[in-house]
Amino acid sequence: MLPSDVCRCRIDPDVETVQSTWNTYRRPTLKTSQRAFSLPTSWAIYWVWTVSSSPTVTSGRPNERWPATMFSANKFNTWVRQVVHNELDQIDSLLETVASQNDHDIGQGLYSTAGTSLEKRSGTHGGAIAMPELFFRYTLSSFAKMAFAADLGCLSEDPVSLQKPHPFAVAFDYAQGVMNDRFVFPIWKLSERIMPYGREMRRSIKTVRTFGMAIIKQRLAETGADVSSIQIDEKDASFNPDDLKQCSLQNEGKDLLALFMEQTQDPQALLTVVLNFLIAGRDTTAQTLSWLFYELCAHPEHVEHIRRELDQVMGKDAASKRSWLKYDEFKKLPYTLACVHEAARLHPSVPKNGKEVLRDDVIVPQGPNPDNLPPIKVYAGERVGWSDWVMNRLTEVWGPDAEEFNPQRFLTRDASTGQWSYQQQSQWKFHVFNAGPRLCLGMNLAGYEATAFLAATLQKYDFTWSSKQQGQTSDWPPTYANSVTHPMKDLYQVIVTHRQL
Ligand code: HEM
Repeated sequence: MLPSDVCRCRIDPDVETVQSTWNTYRRPTLKTSQRAFSLPTSWAIYWVWTVSSSPTVTSGRPNERWPATMFSANKFNTWVRQVVHNELDQIDSLLETVASQNDHDIGQGLYSTAGTSLEKRSGTHGGAIAMPELFFRYTLSSFAKMAFAADLGCLSEDPVSLQKPHPFAVAFDYAQGVMNDRFVFPIWKLSERIMPYGREMRRSIKTVRTFGMAIIKQRLAETGADVSSIQIDEKDASFNPDDLKQCSLQNEGKDLLALFMEQTQDPQALLTVVLNFLIAGRDTTAQTLSWLFYELCAHPEHVEHIRRELDQVMGKDAASKRSWLKYDEFKKLPYTLACVHEAARLHPSVPKNGKEVLRDDVIVPQGPNPDNLPPIKVYAGERVGWSDWVMNRLTEVWGPDAEEFNPQRFLTRDASTGQWSYQQQSQWKFHVFNAGPRLCLGMNLAGYEATAFLAATLQKYDFTWSSKQQGQTSDWPPTYANSVTHPMKDLYQVIVTHRQL
């Protein structure tokens, strides 16, 4: 918690200024954040919560480091779609195994004994599966294939595999939790040196780096580069580089790493790219899907809307024929997309964010300013922060039901045909993907991956929140974990059965 005397909090529309003005604000470094946090008398943090409804979007992307070609429509229609469909085949086989066993055991009345026979045969606890775990594997596996042509072996058709933790994922999650603490804990260096969690952190970092370097070494070697100087120190790491496989799918274009390798062959620079993209591509989408499935368990009436839409657009038997969603179809599913966006609104994957002030500036309130807030002066070296989580729950912005899961806020319905249409929101209001020049490059990828998952599974299966006796390990509602992004504290379990028509 920030001390209130040094943190000026207000609700106003200034996030647009901070994000559109490139030469004045930049991403804060850990160093500057800690400097700020360690000098409580001399620093000020302006925690700026936005109420902007201005549709103005600054064009241009001053930072050309990210290869936007990776996110082109052509990529989505070919390589991305191919990878997503391949993952959905595996997921469907996995769910089919679990659902068939559950259907059988429910039919035999075995559920009264807490599904013990299911547990033995499927490896799932009481016949329930940890959906968030499945989502993390889906996004990690697909993203590693799309971006680096690497098969991490973390997603298979076998439900038992979900119970075997993937060393990279475990280390990555652990490191993110500790990194989050570093931002608010001034003596983290000392603490990590003497406390046992510090040793675990060093081990996690080693595992993550070993993993990233193994990908880079493999790919550089394929280009004929001399990789003899790249030493991978496996000692203490819980990831064995030999476990890394080349993706068996054929990509005719260049993947993300290939695009970066055209700019540099420096392994350290490439490692930063690989890890940054993994955090952007894996966690955000998996967390959104995790919160979405929880919300759909809580509000099953929306599942019926999604199913009606899927039947209409894709045909009733699409999922049973394994005819998965194509990229150009995902925007034809307004209700489904609205559910994804509503889950992202209530549980934004990047719940807090900020920029460092590079030169003195005055932030002038823009848009509606009912409280007549004055301009605010910020000084070079300070940080400006905002919380999308808070912004998304403000009744001033989203109306009296701001805290409710209501996908229909993103929709309008044609009174004569009953058809739903998606209502585009201003980026400064629906701000979970950021806005302006730093709009998330993976927004459509996330939308496609999430809607394709819903389309593949909801037509065919029912998902029910499991009881404690059936192995539930999460509270209802689930709580947030401490991290840079927005994961759940405990992975919840659902019972999967074939859909009852
Ligand atoms: C629900 C899913 C997602 C959410 C909520 C989300 C959110 C965000 C946010 C808030 C930012 C701005 C970070 C900042 O500069 O402060 C961002 C940037 C970015 N995201 Fe996403 N993201 C999602 C999925 C993805 C995916 C799947 C990718 C694929 C790689 C991706 C790639 C990126 C990239 C490359 C940037 C940096 C853009 C730039 O600065 O030029 N994101 N995202």
